[in-house]
Amino acid sequence: MTSFAIIGGTGALGAALAGRLASAGHKVWVGSRDAAKAQAFAATLSGDVHGAGIAEAAGHGEIVVLTVPYAAHADTLAQIHPAVQGKIVVDTTVPLKPPKVGTVQLPAAGCAAVEAAQALGPDVKVVSALQTIGAEKLGSGAAIDADVLVAGDDAEAVEAVRAMLTGLGLRSWHVGPLANSAAAEAMTSLLIQINRRYKIAQAGVKITGKPKDAPAAASVSIRALPGLPLFEPGQDLASAIAEAVRASGEPLQPGDVVVVAQKVVSKVEDRAVRIDTVEPGAEAREAAARAEKDPAVVQLIATEAQELMRVAPGVIITRHRTGHVLANSGIDASNVVCGGTESVLLWPQDPDASARRLRVALEAAFGVRLAVIVSDSLGRAWRMGTTGHAIGSAGLKPLRDRRGEADLFGRELQATVIGVADEIASAASLVIGEAAEGTPVAIVRGATYEADETEGVGEILRPLDKDLFR
Ligand SMILES: NC(=O)c1ccc[n+]([C@@H]2O[C@H](COP(=O)([O-])OP(=O)(O)OC[C@H]3O[C@@H](n4cnc5c(N)ncnc54)[C@H](OP(=O)(O)O)[C@@H]3O)[C@@H](O)[C@H]2O)c1
Repeated sequence: MTSFAIIGGTGALGAALAGRLASAGHKVWVGSRDAAKAQAFAATLSGDVHGAGIAEAAGHGEIVVLTVPYAAHADTLAQIHPAVQGKIVVDTTVPLKPPKVGTVQLPAAGCAAVEAAQALGPDVKVVSALQTIGAEKLGSGAAIDADVLVAGDDAEAVEAVRAMLTGLGLRSWHVGPLANSAAAEAMTSLLIQINRRYKIAQAGVKITGKPKDAPAAASVSIRALPGLPLFEPGQDLASAIAEAVRASGEPLQPGDVVVVAQKVVSKVEDRAVRIDTVEPGAEAREAAARAEKDPAVVQLIATEAQELMRVAPGVIITRHRTGHVLANSGIDASNVVCGGTESVLLWPQDPDASARRLRVALEAAFGVRLAVIVSDSLGRAWRMGTTGHAIGSAGLKPLRDRRGEADLFGRELQATVIGVADEIASAASLVIGEAAEGTPVAIVRGATYEADETEGVGEILRPLDKDLFR
């Protein structure tokens, strides 16, 4: 483990860095104008941490990090000069003179790091780093979603500093000679402006792009579509989705899967039923007594079902007329108000047809090939907790048959049929909010599926003759 001296280690950035380095197992010397203050602070950190005056601390560090205000820069460099000869000095200084910290101020030499190199002489390898990382973020111990720009004239010294940063969980980039530190130092004023203007806690910079020879990693993005209205019967759902997609600034792309919660599909298709309009029959009354439910609701559950498969206190499991096996025929009482009377919402008449209509309209609106899934949260046999399931689909084959493909070791996959429509619906349910969130639509991008023109979700349903529990 390397030993680090943090000069100014009692301050915001220095303390954060000292804490991270100590947690990573390094020996840390905190340097202060007041040795007793440094010792007292060191005692608050766990790990191999010590406190000393500036010159003494600098003497103990194999790598010396400068975290003092620019006002103290020149003076501190003079104090550490003898102790740092032959070593690496990491300069984090931003040459700001308050109060105009939102305006770039660079010294005549070009930047603070070059001033440090000039003051310390040719035997010191000055590396500039960390100007764009907020002390609070660094001190939080959490993952940091920002990059470090590292400038320096000595490649080995730069790599040593980058290795230290990598060990602290920070991604860094060698951005060229020490003189280029000017850009990183100047960036601080821009970040201060952004923090103020957009009320960001601590803005940072992040470099985009990836190496040209990097293997393409599979990735899927799932985003909730903001800005949709509360839907009413008869409303044009596809147009509302298209409008919200345009407003989001991120148009649909070929292959995107638009996942729409059953509830809004049922709503626009006017599938709400007022309970006081339902006259329960004798069978429904009998089942309602066993399930301890409202007989009118049980009548609707039965009407929507091919078969009541299980009736017990609090539970009715049915085979829905579409073939899905689920609780209460998918009848949902939450979020439904109908003329002030209690109402329940039935599934769409034909969820596959609903998906097809949405797909046709959205493909026309965006001129790209899409798939659409109508989803609902359902419980699963033998497992607790609901997950998103596809109850209707268009544009994709709901099962992905991988039998015959080779596994990593070249062996043929034997029984690998993936319920891809359910997987996509389930992923989308991570962002679809059916309750107060009001985000009933998600766009899933990058999912691997087989495009298909004819299928609905039918093939997902296990045929009765393959039901292992009958
Ligand atoms: N804060 C950030 O988020 C951040 C981010 C990137 C870069 N930086 C850079 O890091 C350096 C330190 O910033 P900071 O925010 O950590 O500052 P800070 O909280 O004010 O701490 C600086 C430390 O430097 C020491 N110091 C030495 N001479 C000083 C003087 N004349 N006046 C005041 N303090 C003096 C103090 O320690 P003793 O009293 O123990 O001597 C003080 O604790 C600055 O150059 C800044 O540009 C800061």
